[in-house]
Amino acid sequence: MAALKIAPSLLAADFSCLEKQIVAVEAEVDWLHIDVMDGHFVPNISFGIPVIAGIRPITELHFDCHLMTTNPDAYLPDLAEAGADSVTMHIEAMPEPTDAAKLARENDLGFGLVCNPATPFAALRPFMELADVVLFMSVEPGFGGQSFMPEVLAKVEEAREWVEKRGLGADIQIDGGITLETARQAVSAGANVLVAGTTIFGADDPPTAAAELRRALQGK
Ligand code: DX5
Ligand code: ZN
Repeated sequence: MAALKIAPSLLAADFSCLEKQIVAVEAEVDWLHIDVMDGHFVPNISFGIPVIAGIRPITELHFDCHLMTTNPDAYLPDLAEAGADSVTMHIEAMPEPTDAAKLARENDLGFGLVCNPATPFAALRPFMELADVVLFMSVEPGFGGQSFMPEVLAKVEEAREWVEKRGLGADIQIDGGITLETARQAVSAGANVLVAGTTIFGADDPPTAAAELRRALQGK
């Protein structure tokens, strides 16, 4: 089974003190999940390339950039230059992602594919060989603080079986409404990368919340 990774979502951080927030959780987490939104693919705008470049010197954490944008391939060189380590793009925005995956590789970026709650795993299947990670949204993308959609777990199970049978080694990520309880369900279904916004950065003590999340998943 792939190694567990905890990925706090910066969207839930206090933007008035990003450095303090990132440094506080750094030792307890594996990736920093960075939600880029364009107000077009999703009905919200978050932050983009200058913010990623601004926080890059603060930490050596892996920057996992979740692109909720209409043209996710348009900014790959700029994202790489800003310090992104990997990008995930929505299959709904990029139904033929082969060239985008190639461009990501050319820019030394890890590459992953995301699907919305209503999109079946079948939409990702033809492209699984391209992906280091497949991300299942367990809320509608665009906003933090929503409730987990348990029906997504069936897709996580399907993807885990697909990856294991073929020895692909892709990480399986879940994003949206992750709490200690829904994280346990997601890991039991086969997820190994847990994105958590509200549960970590929304907590009174984010590093303790991240450590508790990891502890809750040990032995799962
Ligand atoms: C939603 C984002 C998520 C969000 C998760 O569009 O992709 O990463 O920050 O927030 P929580 O963990 O609060 O559901
Ligand atoms: Zn996200």
